[in-house]
Amino acid sequence: MERQAVIDRIASLRALIDYHNRRYHQLDDPEITDAEYDRMMADLIELERQNPDIDTAGSPSRQVGSAPLSGFAPVKHINPMLSLNNAFSGENVRSFDQRIREKLQEEEIEYAVEPKLDGLAISLLYVRGALSRAATRGDGYAGEDVTANVRTIHSIPHRLDISVADFPLEIRGEIIMLKDAFEELNRIQREKGGKEFANPRNAAAGSLRQLDAAVTAERRLSFFAYGLILPLDGDLKNSEMTNSIRRHSEIMDMLSSWSIPLCSERAIVKGAEGLLSYFAVIEAKRHSLPYEIDGVVYKVNLLEFQKRLGFISRAPRFALAHKFPAEEAATEIYAIDVQVGRTGVLTPVARLKPVSVGGVRITNATLHNEDEIINKDIRVGDRVIVHRAGDVIPEVVRVDYDKRPPDAQTFIMPEKCPACGSDAVRLPGEAARRCIGLACPAQIREHIKHFASRSAMDIEGLGDRLVAQLLECGLISDPADLYYLSKEKLLTLDRMADKSASNLLVAIERSKTPSLEKLIFALGIRHVGERIAKVLADKLFSLSAIMEAGEEELLAVPDIGPEVAGSIIRFFHEPANIRVVEKLKGAGIRPQEVSEGHESPLRGKSFVFTGTLSRMPRNEAKKIVESLGGLVSSSLTKTTSYLVLGESPGSKFDKAQSAGLAVIDEDAFYELIGRG
Ligand code: IVH
Repeated sequence: MERQAVIDRIASLRALIDYHNRRYHQLDDPEITDAEYDRMMADLIELERQNPDIDTAGSPSRQVGSAPLSGFAPVKHINPMLSLNNAFSGENVRSFDQRIREKLQEEEIEYAVEPKLDGLAISLLYVRGALSRAATRGDGYAGEDVTANVRTIHSIPHRLDISVADFPLEIRGEIIMLKDAFEELNRIQREKGGKEFANPRNAAAGSLRQLDAAVTAERRLSFFAYGLILPLDGDLKNSEMTNSIRRHSEIMDMLSSWSIPLCSERAIVKGAEGLLSYFAVIEAKRHSLPYEIDGVVYKVNLLEFQKRLGFISRAPRFALAHKFPAEEAATEIYAIDVQVGRTGVLTPVARLKPVSVGGVRITNATLHNEDEIINKDIRVGDRVIVHRAGDVIPEVVRVDYDKRPPDAQTFIMPEKCPACGSDAVRLPGEAARRCIGLACPAQIREHIKHFASRSAMDIEGLGDRLVAQLLECGLISDPADLYYLSKEKLLTLDRMADKSASNLLVAIERSKTPSLEKLIFALGIRHVGERIAKVLADKLFSLSAIMEAGEEELLAVPDIGPEVAGSIIRFFHEPANIRVVEKLKGAGIRPQEVSEGHESPLRGKSFVFTGTLSRMPRNEAKKIVESLGGLVSSSLTKTTSYLVLGESPGSKFDKAQSAGLAVIDEDAFYELIGRG
């Protein structure tokens, strides 16, 4: 880039980042995604690094957040509240570890690792044991005094029950809103016609920074600590209690002993590989955590090392935030179609200009139902932000109204089923519109697809196209018909080769002995998902017992309430459904029934694997464990029954040993699953 172009680019990036800082930190109303912001900041930092002669004083790259908003009294921080450097790749993480090893001249570094909570930073000052001041981060040097509001958060103690606290202590942490509190708040806002929040972080920030603390008190905010600032030079250093503290992890344990809430996913790991495997573990369970996180934070554990490493500009050298790939991206809706599900529910789907979200190409996003489209005022032609989280179907988060083209089209939900033309009606109290056509081909197709899917009967090779083809040619009309297909019949289909026909018949044959829970799930009973199917199988042991169960019996099964019980009873009272079940039995479908009293050897046992198994891939081992009634999970918990050691095990081994969990080798594992 030419010199002048570089200067202009830096100036424009700085102005843009300043603007977005204000939207995010002061107004709690960001316009761009965190990923877009991070990209701008990374570009600026890189340009400034390549052009060290351009003055960086006042650049947002050297600042933290945004100056405080008026409305709250400003407070100057005793210790500045800094930011963290970001990493977006394994390579970034390895060079961080390498830099640290070189600077400290150490072979291997121990790190304290924690989730990066997505909320807002808070400083809690305790004087003589009493919470005396709570402040937001602001620009890192001065924040807002939000003491009155913070006092309404139940998990933050007003008083520390400790004898050493005769001097000021500053606890740092994150104020967050748990996912369920966020959902509930948005539901209440919706009912009141108030503003809904885009995500839990905005909701937490908006709830904390209320001039009326009574409003904050109504919001369910939570707090997790991630650090304690030891008084500069002083009493605490000499105090008996803290003399022995040499590590960040020990500070955290001490906070915990003072009843300060901490995030439970903390760990201690060694070296870059330890950091990366922790990242993978947390990334895998990210969506099952009750709070939102946007990455993990690595901190050199020994305080002595932290001190030696020190700080560069706005961030410590001893810590790093490793961010998850973006889950949001901006794109455009070019059409809205309506899909009919197996229960007849009509779901509007946005067709999108392809966009990559976290490395996956997205072309469709669900719009849920007509109310969602009206509430978010989504139109064909709109620029939108889409969100894709884990395995969840991508959804449209919001519209960029400023970019709405003048010819954007309002969408109207059809009142007839697009597949069969029957009425599509909305029952009172329901958001969904349903096709009432009994013979709706779309419902039948979806029902059969569900029946054959991996988590149900698992008929390999029976894809969407083939199901549609079989239905169109009249070879099947319900799921049981699949078991009466013959090679001759299959070969009448267009483009069906002899080999594919045989493969399909083998797959169908193989699916004849499902576990009871999979068969129950496959039937597609309303409200009976995989979890309910499993409890039904666990408690009632056989298909006939489930079919005959009365309300009282069903209500005695954990997690089953009147609505689910009613749905199961209705399903098995419907003659058409009984006919399908009989047809399945007639075709030789025999679920592996769970026999009472003969509990499977692995029931209630949970396994975690580390390293490579030599005899079978992990997913096969997982299948065997599950077929014997056990569970496999990806991370260790207090209740893990066995850690199975494969070749070159990872950090889980140390973790399991220090937690006193049972560790077994591969041979012992094969013994346990009866394949020794
Ligand atoms: S340590 C010197 N640990 O991330 C900075 N920060 O980008 C010390 N955050 O302002 C911060 N989870 O609000 C730390 N486990 C964690 C964190 C965490 C979230 C936030 C915090 C900080 C921002 C830095």
